[in-house]
Amino acid sequence: MENEVKILAIESSCDETAAAVVVNGRDVRSNIISSQIELHTIYGGVVPEIASRKHVENINYVIQEALDQAGMSLDAMDAIAVTYGPGLVGALLVGVAEAKAISFARNLPLIGVHHIEGHISANYIEHKDLEPPYICLVVSGGHTHLVNVKDYGEYEILGKTRDDAAGEAFDKVARSIGLGYPGGPKIDKIAKTGNPHAIAFPRANIAEHPYDFSFSGLKSAVLNYLNQCEMKGESYSQADVAASFQQSVVDVLTEHAMLAVRESNISKLALAGGVASNSALRQAMREQCEQNGITLYYPSPVLCTDNAAMIGAAAYYEYQRGVRHGLDLNAVPNLKLGER
Ligand code: KG4
Ligand code: ZN
Repeated sequence: MENEVKILAIESSCDETAAAVVVNGRDVRSNIISSQIELHTIYGGVVPEIASRKHVENINYVIQEALDQAGMSLDAMDAIAVTYGPGLVGALLVGVAEAKAISFARNLPLIGVHHIEGHISANYIEHKDLEPPYICLVVSGGHTHLVNVKDYGEYEILGKTRDDAAGEAFDKVARSIGLGYPGGPKIDKIAKTGNPHAIAFPRANIAEHPYDFSFSGLKSAVLNYLNQCEMKGESYSQADVAASFQQSVVDVLTEHAMLAVRESNISKLALAGGVASNSALRQAMREQCEQNGITLYYPSPVLCTDNAAMIGAAAYYEYQRGVRHGLDLNAVPNLKLGER
């Protein structure tokens, strides 16, 4: 159709090599994700150098598969989008170089996308009715942000973490109780069999910055608890530690998000990022939103963790706003949301 904008999107900021074809921002024709999780599991976390090498090996296949599954060729594309930050610089560079090469060879407009903007925009794919303004809680392995999405591409950061990201805390605590990497889904699963009130872990609130988060104290409290058990020669319940830790994170995230929604007078709340697939967080948010007359949005789990469909969704709105990047686009590992 004439008025269709077809975007080939690439994501390689961490340990997934991903490509997708997205039409008009919300219609995902393909979403290919080649995960390196198994490769990094033996090291207990992402090894940047290995991630970059694997991206180089996989990226052409992943792109071809995305085009094949969409039943389209590069000729049909209207633009090429790529995550250019934040993330691991070597990993980002693979996607950025690939996107620039395609843009140059095919004379296609190039759109650099902020990774967090991608996570937020994942919500547009399954919620056709969602439009700004709304509040978005972004909780991933590298970021914990409370954002007022004022318009497409227009973000006001209300609060963020002072130290660890929520997903990072999940991963570290999982490792400390022997659950391995990536910890989030493993804690989510085992917590279902534990008592969330068994251990009183702290809930951090930062005076005068009610929207900011801090998870390092919670992480230390879990480690202290484990050390104390060890010193006393007592065993501990993995499930109770997981459930009590998770409850503490969920309480803080829920409380801060509800405060932001109330104080901004916006009755729409979206969740985004890998931790947004946490079942306890989703349930707590559903209950709170229902009680307070707030409409809650969150993506399916596969769209919460890193993928390229979300980058295609974000890129469409950037494209509509006239954003175009030149072939001097570079990877920016610490890119801030709202920066260009
Ligand atoms: O968004 P994402 O794929 O990558 C970043 O941009 O960081 O998020 C990955 C993070 C990891 O820390 C992982 O442990 C966490 O999301 N995660 C979860 C769950 N699934 C993934 N955390 C809690 N519960 C889950 N079900
Ligand atoms: Zn991510």
